[in-house]
Amino acid sequence: MIKEHKIGIIMNGVTGRMGTNQHLIRSILAIRNQGGVRLSAGEVIMPDPILIGRNEEKLRELAHKHGIERYSTNLDHALADPENQIYFDSQTTDRRAEGVRKAIAAKKAIYCEKPTAVSTEEALAIYHEATAAGLKNGVVQDKLWLPGLLKLKRLIDSGFFGTILSVRGEFGYWVFEGGEDWQPAQRPSWNYRKEDGGGIIVDMLCHWRYVIDNLFGNVKSLSCLGAIHIPERVDENGKTYKCTADDSAYATFELENGVVAHFNSSWTVRVKREDLLTLQVDGTHGSAVAGLRNCWTQHRVNTPKPVWNPDIENPFDFNSQWEEVPANAIYDNAFKVQWEMFLRHVVKNEPFRWSLLEGAKGVQMAELGLESWQKRAWVDVKPLV
Ligand SMILES: NC(=O)c1ccc[n+]([C@@H]2O[C@H](COP(=O)([O-])OP(=O)(O)OC[C@H]3O[C@@H](n4cnc5c(N)ncnc54)[C@H](O)[C@@H]3O)[C@@H](O)[C@H]2O)c1
Repeated sequence: MIKEHKIGIIMNGVTGRMGTNQHLIRSILAIRNQGGVRLSAGEVIMPDPILIGRNEEKLRELAHKHGIERYSTNLDHALADPENQIYFDSQTTDRRAEGVRKAIAAKKAIYCEKPTAVSTEEALAIYHEATAAGLKNGVVQDKLWLPGLLKLKRLIDSGFFGTILSVRGEFGYWVFEGGEDWQPAQRPSWNYRKEDGGGIIVDMLCHWRYVIDNLFGNVKSLSCLGAIHIPERVDENGKTYKCTADDSAYATFELENGVVAHFNSSWTVRVKREDLLTLQVDGTHGSAVAGLRNCWTQHRVNTPKPVWNPDIENPFDFNSQWEEVPANAIYDNAFKVQWEMFLRHVVKNEPFRWSLLEGAKGVQMAELGLESWQKRAWVDVKPLV
C-alpha cells in the first residue's frame, strides 16, 4: 500500500502565460501524470491544484481541458480550506504582495513567481512576514535547472575554466509590435507599461541576480542602461498604446571575486546565436558557451590564433572549433524540477534555499538597475537584512 501525501495547491494567476504553461501543464499536471513525486518505493506526494482567477469561464475551460476538478474565483474561500497547504502566485507582479500577504495570514506555505514584489522593501517585508509566521517559502528561479546551465555548472565545479575572467550574457528576441498590417505580440502588453509592472530590467535582472550569485559569485556593483527602443505597440484588443517601460537593458556587473559579467537583455533584437539566452564564460584554461539546453567548450589547447586582417577572406570557421558537452543525463523541465524540490521541502522538510529572501535579492538587483539607469552611475549592492 502506497502512502500518498495529498497536497492542495492554490494556483493564483494560473490562466496567465506562465501559470498555464510552465506551472500547471509542465509542472503540476506532469507531476500528477507521473504518479506524484516519488519519495520512496512506498511513499509519494500528490499535488492537488485548485485554479484561482477572476474569470470563471476561463477557469472552467482550463480546468475541463485538463481534467481538474477544483477551480474558483474566491481566493478567500480557497485560503480558508485547510486541505490547501500551498499558495502559489503567478499573477502580474504588481498583485503579488497582496496575494502572498493573504496567504501568510491563512498560514499557507508560499511559492511564487519572480519578481516577488515591485520594490525591494516590499519583497523583503513579505520574506520577513512569512518567516516570522514560521511558513515555508520559495521563489521560482527556473534558469538554474536549464540543461545548458546545469552543464555550465558542471564545468565550473570541475575546474575546467581555471580562473574565470568574464561572463557575457546575451538574452532576447524580437517581440512583435502588433497592429493591423503587422504581427501580434507574443508577450502580454503589460510588459511594456511601467504603470502595470512592466519593463525588461524588472523582469530580467531578477534572473541575472540568481544566475550570477549561484554560478559565478556575489555582485559588488552594477551599471545599467535601459532603453525604450519601440515607443508604441498594439495591445491584445488591437488598441495602440504608448510604451512606458524599457524594452532593452545593457547591464555590467562587477563581482566581488573580480569577474566581470555583462548582460544584454532585449525584446528588440533579432537572433543570430545558438539560443534565446546564451552565456559565454571565458577563463584562463578554457571557455564555454551555454544555451538553454546545450553547451560548447574550447579548451586552451584547442584555441586558434587569429590575426586581424580584413583584407583576406576569414580563414577560420570559429563555430566549428568548439566541442559539445554531452548530456550524460535526462533533464526534466526546469520549473518542474524546482516544484518537486519545493513539494519535498513542504512535506519532508528537505532543504530548499531559494526562499523569498533570494526573491528579494532579485528585486533589489532590478531596482538598482533602474537607479543606475536614472542616475547614469555605478551603484553598489548592499547586503539585505
Ligand atoms: N520565471 C520566468 O521565467 C518568468 C517568465 C515570464 C513571466 N514571469 C513572471 O510571471 C508573472 C506572470 O507573467 P505572465 O507572463 O504569465 O503574465 P500574464 O499576463 O499572462 O498572466 C498574469 C496573470 O495574472 C492575472 N491578473 C492580471 N491582472 C489581474 C488582476 N487585476 N486581478 C487578478 N488577477 C490578475 C491574469 O488573469 C493572469 O492569470 C509575472 O510576475 C512575470 O514577471 C516569470
